[in-house]
Amino acid sequence: MEKGEEKTLFLPSQEVVNQANVKEYDQLYLYSLDQPEAFWAEQAEQLSWYKKWDKVLDKSDPPFFKWFEGAKTNIILNAIDRHQSSATRNKLAVIWEGEPGDSRTYSYHALNREVSQFANILKSMGVKKGDVVTIYMPQIPEQLFAMLACAKIGAAHSVVYGGFSHEALADRINDANSRVVITADGGYRRGKVVEMKSVVNKAMELSPTMEICITVKRTGIDVYMENDRDYWYHDLKSLPIASSKCETEVMDSSDMLFLLYTSGSTGKPKALVHTHGGYSVYTASTHKMVFDIKPEDRYWCAADPGWITGHSYIVYGPLINGSTIMLYEGAPNHPYPDRWWKMVEKYGINILYTSPTAIRGLMRFGDSWPNRNDISSLRLLGSVGEPINAEAWNWFHKVVGRGKCPIMDTWWQTETGGFVIAPLPITPLKPGSATKPFFGNDLAVVDDAGKEVPNGEEGTLVIKTPWPGMAKSVFNDPQRFIETYWEKYKKQGWYHTGDSAKKDEDGYFWIIGRNDDVIKVSGYRLGSAEIEGVMARHPAIAESAAIALPHNLKGNAIHITAVLRSNYKPSKELEHELMVHMEEHLGKIARPEAIQFADVLPKTRSGKIMRRLLKSRALGLPDGDLSTMEE
Ligand code: PRX
Repeated sequence: MEKGEEKTLFLPSQEVVNQANVKEYDQLYLYSLDQPEAFWAEQAEQLSWYKKWDKVLDKSDPPFFKWFEGAKTNIILNAIDRHQSSATRNKLAVIWEGEPGDSRTYSYHALNREVSQFANILKSMGVKKGDVVTIYMPQIPEQLFAMLACAKIGAAHSVVYGGFSHEALADRINDANSRVVITADGGYRRGKVVEMKSVVNKAMELSPTMEICITVKRTGIDVYMENDRDYWYHDLKSLPIASSKCETEVMDSSDMLFLLYTSGSTGKPKALVHTHGGYSVYTASTHKMVFDIKPEDRYWCAADPGWITGHSYIVYGPLINGSTIMLYEGAPNHPYPDRWWKMVEKYGINILYTSPTAIRGLMRFGDSWPNRNDISSLRLLGSVGEPINAEAWNWFHKVVGRGKCPIMDTWWQTETGGFVIAPLPITPLKPGSATKPFFGNDLAVVDDAGKEVPNGEEGTLVIKTPWPGMAKSVFNDPQRFIETYWEKYKKQGWYHTGDSAKKDEDGYFWIIGRNDDVIKVSGYRLGSAEIEGVMARHPAIAESAAIALPHNLKGNAIHITAVLRSNYKPSKELEHELMVHMEEHLGKIARPEAIQFADVLPKTRSGKIMRRLLKSRALGLPDGDLSTMEE
């Protein structure tokens, strides 16, 4: 929040108000808090079910809440199957453009056939209900088909972001006990081929559970394939087993739909588990109300399906709502900085949802790039992943949205499954504030004891009531789920978000950022412990501390303080070598901005690294309380 920004208010135009799906917030919000089960049952009634619920919410075993208990469903029933018997069947489901300029489209009918074929292929490989399939792919339609095919047969997908190294991939495969991985030979990014199958091959060497790899041919580069382990997708697709008819598996509402790994304060990334029933209801409702989805809309969420945004708002929410979704494989500025704007014009995109980092990245090229394209089809804009600074908000609003498009700044997390704080198109907007809670969510900004802090003061954001999109648990580690999210406010039974926030006198929420050791770089989530763990694998490193410092483009950048082993000396060369080490062993997003060498790290008497002190010193702020520091 920049000084004075809290006061600026952008009112929606009459046109926006007239066509809004939800025309009133206050009453409906109060009703949703007063009678949450009735509210969510009404939302759930808008979807199809094999069998409806006996109970909307089972609270008998907190924090393991069960939504739509007793219901039988499958997210595919709503995302694909029910559209086959309506006019949506012939509507475009997917418009895809590859970075080199190739493009493909699929109707809902065609999507059903593709997903069924993929599902039958997976079945023929022995994949069954409850298994976890790892997906490591570029943004091509087959990535979407693979996810949907897993869901269709009741297997959980674990999509690993394509920018992660083979070690990070192997860690996730091993933790999930995954037997099958789906990949592509490579993908295109900034005019170059990014290899993927070779990364999977290296990961497979570190993964005792891996048996089968299915590879989609995207680029035609040479890849190493092993008999009885590696299969080309196009070969499998030509076999009789790959029929385009496949029954959707009937699932319990709280059966696992997918796992998604995300970083926390401590230890290795953990997998959050999302479910078929609650997640379907939550992603569909939030998507429809916040993005004001109309049947004729062309909707583009320019995230990567490897992160939660892609799961909830490229794939599931939009497909349940029968939307036409846009998918693009490559970089926003390739070959020129108007690549996105060209696609908005070419495909007539109405809604564009992206991140502050992407907005800042495109803003730096100037107004002429959007201005030279006709982007007047845009009706609504969206932002997610990190706080949006006023300058980026104003540019997005004025230049991309031509002063007419409301910006839906949506606050949520991998854990929440969908939007928790977000405006509706009718909400008066304040740049930099995600505005008010989405229906059904009771939120507060509190101190460590759980007391609500006065308006305008910083505190911890908590969610007081369960919501249908919430993760069910941490995969194979329910204790970690309790400790990470529910321990701090155990007495009250609140969900601890890990974010600092303020609430203003109008009830608007302002997210300040993480208050733990999670680092958001360009909106991507990494943990200090994870970064330090990979640093420690380099022979020069005795120990290190990773902190986030503000960065103009990325929001935050990683800064490392490293203590070297006695036989190493600080040098520019070593700094560079360590940066490359981070890229190779974790991924490009983990490349530090700077590495500083030190003789010791500041620690508490119990041996914990005082990252907060490193941060305040780097920012020239007061040291704060040093009473726990070791001598
Ligand atoms: O710090 C908040 C930030 O992103 C974190 C969640 O990261 P992840 O699980 O990767 O999910 C990102 C996409 C939903 C939050 O704890 N964050 C997310 N959205 C916003 C945000 N910070 C400020 N404003 C937002 N709109």
